[in-house]
Amino acid sequence: MSGRAICLPLQRMSSLMSLEHPVIAIDGYSSCGKSTVAKSLAKVLGIRYIDSGAMYRAVTWYFLENKIYFPLAGEHSDLDYRPTLDQIHIHFEVNAATGESEMFLNGHNLKKEIRSMEVSDNVSHVSAIKEVRKRMVSLQQQMNTGAGLVMDGRDIGTTVFPNADLKIFMTADPEIRAMRRYREMLSAGVEVSLDDVRNNINSRDYEDTHREESPLRMAPDAVVLDNSHLNFDEQVEFVLERIRNLRPA
Ligand code: DC
Repeated sequence: MSGRAICLPLQRMSSLMSLEHPVIAIDGYSSCGKSTVAKSLAKVLGIRYIDSGAMYRAVTWYFLENKIYFPLAGEHSDLDYRPTLDQIHIHFEVNAATGESEMFLNGHNLKKEIRSMEVSDNVSHVSAIKEVRKRMVSLQQQMNTGAGLVMDGRDIGTTVFPNADLKIFMTADPEIRAMRRYREMLSAGVEVSLDDVRNNINSRDYEDTHREESPLRMAPDAVVLDNSHLNFDEQVEFVLERIRNLRPA
């Protein structure tokens, strides 16, 4: 999927919107293309975009890098993670050259590192830790400064922003997701097999939906966007149509 120009110009979109600074939550399964859609929406609406998955990936990268123990699926740990989490400082900045929202951990841009297969294979374990979720949710909530926000993840509409103005739940056929992700990784120069990508997606889906702490669930007031057979423009248009119909509470 490419980041093609969206048919509706920003000015016209703004004039059609009845809510000036909407909070938009986009949740869904792994590799559904949530971030591609979320980024474009944020651009069209002129509001901030936050990739909450990048935050969990960054914490996972830090745990791996510093050899911090974390429990695997089915394991339990009574470790106090607060001192470790106190060492982790995450913030987002807009790159002036590209206009992209970029995440920094302790001042380092980890754009590439957090997409490695090692991080992907462990992020569901680390993000299931209660204290990790508590910290990330609190940080994500602080990012809503009232100026409007598009955030994507797994629990944005259910836990982070239960009062979001619009909640989208994205899904797609697992095989289609695996193929898209595989092609994306190949074109990014990451050597990986389709089987590995498929297994990673399936196990993350399972762990994300079965963990105790805010599992991936569709909020009752979310709108489903199944993009198995939709192109990029159609997906963005689907969400924009719902934004145009938003009314102040
Ligand atoms: O969006 P992503 O695939 O980059 O997210 C990576 C992992 O982070 C995902 O498998 C589960 C976790 N995650 C989460 O638990 N809660 C979120 N709000 C976002 C991501």
